[in-house]
Amino acid sequence: MEYQAKELFAKHGVATTLGEVVETAEAAKAAAEKIGGVTVIKAQVKAGGRGKAGGVKLAKTADEAFEHASNILGMEIKGLTVNRVLVTPATPPEEEYYFSFLLDRSNRQYLCIASVEGGVEIEEVAKTNPEAVRQIAIDPGTGVDEAKAREIATDAKFPEPVFEQAVTMIQALYQVFVEEDATLVEVNPLARLAGDKLEALDGKVSLDENASEVRHPEHEEFVIRDEQDPLEAKAKDKGLNYVKLDGQVGIIGNGAGLVMSTLDVVAYAGEAHGGVKPANFLDIGGGANAQVMADGLDVILNDPQVKSVFVNVFGGITACDEVASGIKGALEILGDSATKPLVVRLDGNNVEKGRQILDELNHPLVTQVDTMDGAADKAAELANA
Ligand SMILES: Nc1ncnc2c1ncn2[C@@H]1O[C@H](COP(=O)(O)OP(=O)(O)OP(=O)(O)O)[C@@H](O)[C@H]1O
Ligand SMILES: [Mg+2]
Repeated sequence: MEYQAKELFAKHGVATTLGEVVETAEAAKAAAEKIGGVTVIKAQVKAGGRGKAGGVKLAKTADEAFEHASNILGMEIKGLTVNRVLVTPATPPEEEYYFSFLLDRSNRQYLCIASVEGGVEIEEVAKTNPEAVRQIAIDPGTGVDEAKAREIATDAKFPEPVFEQAVTMIQALYQVFVEEDATLVEVNPLARLAGDKLEALDGKVSLDENASEVRHPEHEEFVIRDEQDPLEAKAKDKGLNYVKLDGQVGIIGNGAGLVMSTLDVVAYAGEAHGGVKPANFLDIGGGANAQVMADGLDVILNDPQVKSVFVNVFGGITACDEVASGIKGALEILGDSATKPLVVRLDGNNVEKGRQILDELNHPLVTQVDTMDGAADKAAELANA
């Protein structure tokens, strides 16, 4: 979020103003009183276009801050509810620039995008005047030193009065990018304020989660529980590899590759059944025991969009009879809270024993199908029923 991005900016010496983050209109009023003068009330959500949605307002007085905050709090921006606002001194920009560093996966390098025609219309500028949006490749091996920062500032045509500040800020933003293991650092607007002062008036940072556990345990502080998808948060607590998607067929599989293929097969099968789609990615990994299976099913069955579940397991190191016992145990653990049909496809190590366990269980919700395509078709059919 913007206020968190700005904390990282300040840590690395990028000129910015932190302001105060609050969750109530009363607290917004108090913050505005403390700051004094004109303030800006800014919705804090992980989405762009907040200003255009009415989530960024100038407040001349503390009472106005109260009024704007009460309107903005609870507002929806791109499907996200605003739970916090940032109260910060109003510093009207004389010019607005755009600046970002990001990971350029296809070229295996970093990319800097900069434009002196920044602000809320940057997407429009990119369409109508792409030449004004500069793209400068950065070799991760050499990074951004002062010479490279000058090259970027020159290419982007930062005007003379703020040129040297831009050179300094570009290097500081690069420090945020590499030292924090970010995949995106974006400033829009990077503003030229009165007196030719350059400041990051907005900020957006994406951190690489792969770095969070070992390299940056302190990044945990940036996780805001009430902003997470509740199902994803629950899955994370249980150590499951789960990503919510926008479909009706819940998916459980073992191994990321098999789960990815399962998503494809279900999406394809869904075309013949009203266009149903996979509802999630869930890889339960190698040890598919009853508890892991129950945890996985519990998360998926609590997704109100889910109409059927496809359990697709290939027994390699894990034997199919263990998986079948896991499903049986999971259904016992879940009891009446299991209410949606399960299509199970088992294959590989100890498959006969596994299928036999489920045949004997003879559970009304469980259908076994021997092939992956057949099972996907059945799961899609049940989701569409
Ligand atoms: N502290 C401030 N003082 C004066 N004006 C501001 C301030 N912060 C933002 N603005 C103005 O509001 C506009 C929108 O603000 P901001 O860039 O933070 O939100 P946004 O662009 O709508 O959000 P996003 O970048 O997520 O799309 C800025 O372009 C700037 O003109
Ligand atoms: Mg912005």
